Amino acid sequence: MGKLVALTLLGAGLALVGERLLAFRQRTNVSREVEPVELQKCHLIEGIETGSEDIDILPSGLAFISSGLKYPGMPSFAPDEPGKIFLMDLNEQNPRAQALKISDGFDKTSFNPHGISTFIDRDHTVYLYVVNHPHMKSTVEIFTFEEKQRSLIHLKTIKHELLKSVNDIVVLGPEQFYATRDHYFTSFFMALLEMILDLHWSYVLFYSPREVKVVAEGFSSANGITVSLDKKYIYVADVTAKNIHVMKKHDNWDLTQLKVIQLDTLVDNLTVDPATGDVLAGCHPNAMKLLLYNPQDPPGSEVLRLQNILSEKPQVSTVYANNGSVLQGSSVASMYHGKLLIGTVFHRALYCEL
Ligand SMILES: *[C@@H]1O[C@H](CO)[C@@H](O)[C@H](O)[C@H]1NC(C)=O
Ligand SMILES: *[C@@H]1O[C@H](CO)[C@@H](O)[C@H](O)[C@H]1NC(C)=O
Ligand SMILES: *[C@@H]1O[C@H](CO)[C@@H](O)[C@H](O)[C@H]1NC(C)=O
Repeated sequence: MGKLVALTLLGAGLALVGERLLAFRQRTNVSREVEPVELQKCHLIEGIETGSEDIDILPSGLAFISSGLKYPGMPSFAPDEPGKIFLMDLNEQNPRAQALKISDGFDKTSFNPHGISTFIDRDHTVYLYVVNHPHMKSTVEIFTFEEKQRSLIHLKTIKHELLKSVNDIVVLGPEQFYATRDHYFTSFFMALLEMILDLHWSYVLFYSPREVKVVAEGFSSANGITVSLDKKYIYVADVTAKNIHVMKKHDNWDLTQLKVIQLDTLVDNLTVDPATGDVLAGCHPNAMKLLLYNPQDPPGSEVLRLQNILSEKPQVSTVYANNGSVLQGSSVASMYHGKLLIGTVFHRALYCEL
């Protein structure tokens, strides 16, 4: 009897895995080819060869670019090299990327930067918050940026029970931020199973020194997060569900969902165009090519623009699309005065003038 029950359970379990695996294949659609959308004045940025996962641009036009992410299941062109933060001044005629010096007193050898976010306080001090994965754990590192020395001074490491598998961060006050947890499980195998079974256990949390709490949950894999220009709304990309959640921010930092915008591409990171308030999304049109990297048939890149995101019918248009011949695995796109920077998980970065 016991054996029969066990066999039935095993059968049911396998059927569930099979069904979810099929759904997973559909979600990570392998066969979708990219219709190219070219931009006239673009070039790859010299010196960035191992990813440009996240980009954050200051109102002054200084762009921070995180590079060298090592992430389970993703390719890396320099698996033994520590990650870097590059700086680019978009006011220059031909902006160049320069790796920032990082102060001592911080373990630079295990630096593995992921999402970044800048914050400027009342004294005009610029802070850079970096999601870090030293030895595949998750911390948030706070640096101050010294413009004259072109360096980052390490101030503090934040760790917390809820800050696990952190992907992205958006800082809204001194040591006050929202962060996304892209997987519930921290081991690679369990995280993969979580993705295939589509458990929706991923969440957004709010962190401050006084209070840490989950403010939105039920995501398949919450990834990029950013804030509207008026700071009233939070946008969260659910990468494996291929959608963007528009959430209202309350005074107590809680979030309530207003709507979900469904797209046909895996949405990685989001930024807001400071000139228009439009949302720019760095997307992965073919996820399987990203997971099973083949340089002969590389993953493509896609940047979408969402206009009037709060309206009944937001307009979605493709700003840039490439099959991987130029740029592979775009994760983020950021605008500054008609200049567009497109970053990637592990490949290069593209600079365009619109
Ligand atoms: C993948 O996408 C293409 C085009 O969008 C569609 O024709 C095809 O049926 C999809 N395949 C799967 C397995 O969902
Ligand atoms: C995504 O973009 C936002 C806004 O520029 C930034 O704060 C965040 O760190 C980025 N994260 C990732 C994972 O690319
Ligand atoms: C990708 O696009 C380029 C240029 O548009 C084209 O030459 C190349 O054949 C395409 N590659 C694939 C694998 O479709």
